[in-house]
Amino acid sequence: MAYTGLDAYKNNQDNYTIDRSRKLRVGIIGAGWIASSHIQEYLRMPDVELVGIADLIDGKVERFLDDQGVHGEVRDRIKIYKNHKELIDDANLDAVSVCTYNMQHANCTIYALEHGVNVLLEKPMCVTLDEAVAIRKAEKASGKIVSIGFQPRFNPNMRMIKNIIQSGELGKVYHIIIGGGRRRGIPTPFGTTFIEKETAGIGALGDIGCYALDMVLNGLGYPKPLTASGYMSDYFGKADDYPFKDVFGVDDFAGGLVRMEGGVTIEFKTAWAMNIDSMGDSIVLGTKAGLRIPSSGHWGGIDAPLKIYRNLCGVDVETVIPMQADPSEGVFYWKVRSFLDAVKNGTAAPVPTSEGIINQAILDGIYKSAKIGHEVEIEIPEI
Ligand SMILES: NC(=O)c1ccc[n+]([C@@H]2O[C@H](COP(=O)([O-])OP(=O)(O)OC[C@H]3O[C@@H](n4cnc5c(N)ncnc54)[C@H](O)[C@@H]3O)[C@@H](O)[C@H]2O)c1
Repeated sequence: MAYTGLDAYKNNQDNYTIDRSRKLRVGIIGAGWIASSHIQEYLRMPDVELVGIADLIDGKVERFLDDQGVHGEVRDRIKIYKNHKELIDDANLDAVSVCTYNMQHANCTIYALEHGVNVLLEKPMCVTLDEAVAIRKAEKASGKIVSIGFQPRFNPNMRMIKNIIQSGELGKVYHIIIGGGRRRGIPTPFGTTFIEKETAGIGALGDIGCYALDMVLNGLGYPKPLTASGYMSDYFGKADDYPFKDVFGVDDFAGGLVRMEGGVTIEFKTAWAMNIDSMGDSIVLGTKAGLRIPSSGHWGGIDAPLKIYRNLCGVDVETVIPMQADPSEGVFYWKVRSFLDAVKNGTAAPVPTSEGIINQAILDGIYKSAKIGHEVEIEIPEI
């Protein structure tokens, strides 16, 4: 079967050559935790000139550049800005990475698009469906691209899920159990921007929930969601002995039942903390075969072989899919590389907003349903 888009990278990685005839002017918005991965990839791209970085916090970009070991001529070329607007207004960018906390994703992305700048947008796409719609509209009006930062898509085992589903081996897929969580893993490595309502907007639901959904929905071709019945709680973030309980303002556990078009149902759950070792494997049930995706402790990768279950001539059989190694450059490299190539070649975003908006609509439906306590309809406007 021929695959297009992202899949082209898998097949071409060995003989891949970078077109150095044109350099792209690139910037970064937000000099926090994930920006360190973006800068390291940009610095090793021969066709990128990193020309500007913005952060709201005074002195943060300078410290960031020190920590990242950026000195000499390369550092001299990087201008420092106080916010995304200053950077975009001044730096004449071809592309920018939006590495802010979730609540600033839409704001920065839309501003960049309105000023003719292509965007590599960190996950989750944003916080609400309304924001995702606004991003899609701005993207369409601009003629530029937004690619969503789902680097697990470049993991070959993750790609195998898509290949298996699209091969027809499973028959009609009718039910999916997806998601999982960490036993203790509320993310506060560099501060509290993941757990404060004003910066994160949503908690585990968006942070690792978006990866879990992408893992399988990408394989299914992102069918549209119709309804969601969701639940959320914050028992761990608000626990008496949790040191950041006073600022914790999002969910640490969320999930729900989602009905998709084409008769597919999804049971979904996600947690930053829980009193159990695992919520179990993810499962894709089809009429010809079922797929088991072993539980992953961190919800961004696959740690053990996939298995296919079916009945062959009256006998139950299982096929183990051997694990494949990540590409040698790492998945983050290909997330950035595929975005840069799309910008240069004027082609579609490798992880497009047409998929991101569906992921966001499910998160939004679960959030709204959990808030009001009953099922909601999900409507994604045509853009
Ligand atoms: N892809 C991954 O593996 C991965 C891993 C971690 C985080 N993330 C995502 O990356 C995003 C950022 O996470 P983080 O941990 O780096 O956050 P962080 O809080 O460490 O850094 C965000 C920075 O953005 C700055 N900022 C916010 N709004 C700004 C604006 N308008 N202009 C300029 N600067 C602005 C903040 O001051 C802050 O320094 C989150 O959405 C998160 O979900 C992705």
